[in-house]
Amino acid sequence: MILELIIAGIVFIVAYGYLINRTRGLPPGPPPLPLLGNALSLGEPMDHTFLKWSKQYGPVFTVWMPGPVVVIADHQTLQDTIVKQGDLFGDRALPINQLKMLADGPYGLVFCGNDVWKEQRRFALHSLKDIGFLSASLQESAKTYAQQIVADWKKEGKEGRNVDVTENIMYGVANLIWQLTFGRTLGFKDPLFNKVEEIIHRMFELFVHPCVSFLDVFPLIAYLDPLFGYPIRRMCATSKESLEILQKELELTEKTLDVDEEPRCYADSYLIEMKRREAKGEPLGSFTRHQLNLAALDLWSAGFETTVTTLRFAVHFLMSNPDAQRKMQKEIDEEIGQRQISMEDQKALPYCMAAIHEIQRVGNIGEINFFRETTGEITIAGHKIPIGTAILPQFPSVHVDPEHFERPDYFCPERHINEAGEFVKDPRVTPFSFGKRACLGEGLARMELFIFLTTFVQHCTFSPTSMIPPKLECTRGLTRSPVHYKVKVTARF
Ligand code: HEM
Repeated sequence: MILELIIAGIVFIVAYGYLINRTRGLPPGPPPLPLLGNALSLGEPMDHTFLKWSKQYGPVFTVWMPGPVVVIADHQTLQDTIVKQGDLFGDRALPINQLKMLADGPYGLVFCGNDVWKEQRRFALHSLKDIGFLSASLQESAKTYAQQIVADWKKEGKEGRNVDVTENIMYGVANLIWQLTFGRTLGFKDPLFNKVEEIIHRMFELFVHPCVSFLDVFPLIAYLDPLFGYPIRRMCATSKESLEILQKELELTEKTLDVDEEPRCYADSYLIEMKRREAKGEPLGSFTRHQLNLAALDLWSAGFETTVTTLRFAVHFLMSNPDAQRKMQKEIDEEIGQRQISMEDQKALPYCMAAIHEIQRVGNIGEINFFRETTGEITIAGHKIPIGTAILPQFPSVHVDPEHFERPDYFCPERHINEAGEFVKDPRVTPFSFGKRACLGEGLARMELFIFLTTFVQHCTFSPTSMIPPKLECTRGLTRSPVHYKVKVTARF
């Protein structure tokens, strides 16, 4: 009897794995297990796993995580769908149960539903443009912080200490987002930044905990929270803690707000818009204080770790590739000298631009992109995809595809330089994603990467602390990030 049961169980699992996609009318994919889906196959770096499946099952395939997600990991198919038919992919597949627990529902800029998102994204783009996303004032601040960082490193290097670059990069990026969101600067090394950084880090780690990520499909897993060491309870406490800090900051911004003056920051524009609507008796729509609080959290969480991690990858790649570092320095020495570098210098520094492009490709900080959801029926590569299907525009797998990049793991800025010595942006390198949900902070991030990194190598040479550069080891969570490492910093002048 037991043997029969075991055989029946095995037959069921195998049949389930091979038939579930067909019965649901979904593209083929790796056979999932009942309840767990393909979760057990996702242990390896996901950019590589999805690439492998894309070669095996075709440009569009289904992965159960643990619900079904249609993955597109092929450059041309991504262009033909997410870019050219963007309207059909503007919505997010939302983890509703998690969001209810963390934020009373889908609010903010990253995880919000279609109608709220449309109004809020449009407003955020306008407001960030108005207050000068790339304004002289934000750029001036970036330059000042970059100078402050290199001055600190030069001092540490002179005292013979090996340097962990993380903290200073973190302070520089944190100050800029604070200024953009709340219109205030704190002290360069204000401990509040360490606190928020630690909270965001914790939140990212908990978000990918199996117990938290299965919550949406199996809400009853909440009862098993104690068995796993209370990740769900800790996630809620962490979210509450972060919202309380941001709430206090928003109150400070509101106290000093002058509605007759130009907005100093995103929060100013938002509060002015609320007051304008109230004064005119117009409906507030999606403009609420709760939404503002979560949008501020999203600007912080989406804009902070991503930029810091990219710059940490940058220093690691340059330390391990002295030739590329020397070429950047030679270009800066010849074109700029010792004066402060500005965004206007981008054209004069093609090799530096190519290096940043390559850092973003090889660093590939998001192994897996965010999910979207179809808002209409669409046929992709011959598969009819129903409305409301979760879609993963998996561009990170394109970055590691040897069909597009010879030896994709090899750091080589020259890939992006043409015969005339000009920088050529590769359309297959898309770290900020594309389509309607592309990164909202791309302009700020590009400015930060350029000003910070070029100033770093203009002033300092980064080299390994021993003969052999340390192996690039990464931690994995919502973003892939180098484990802490130290470098030798030598002042160039
Ligand atoms: C190197 C730095 C950065 C990288 C690589 C990056 C990358 C991304 C990616 C891949 C997405 C998801 C797009 C999709 O769903 O397909 C995204 C979304 C987003 N990013 Fe960034 N980002 C960076 C910096 C920033 C900064 C500085 C901010 C703001 C201050 C920001 C704000 C956002 C927001 C609000 C979204 C959600 C957009 C939406 O759903 O409409 N990001 N980013």
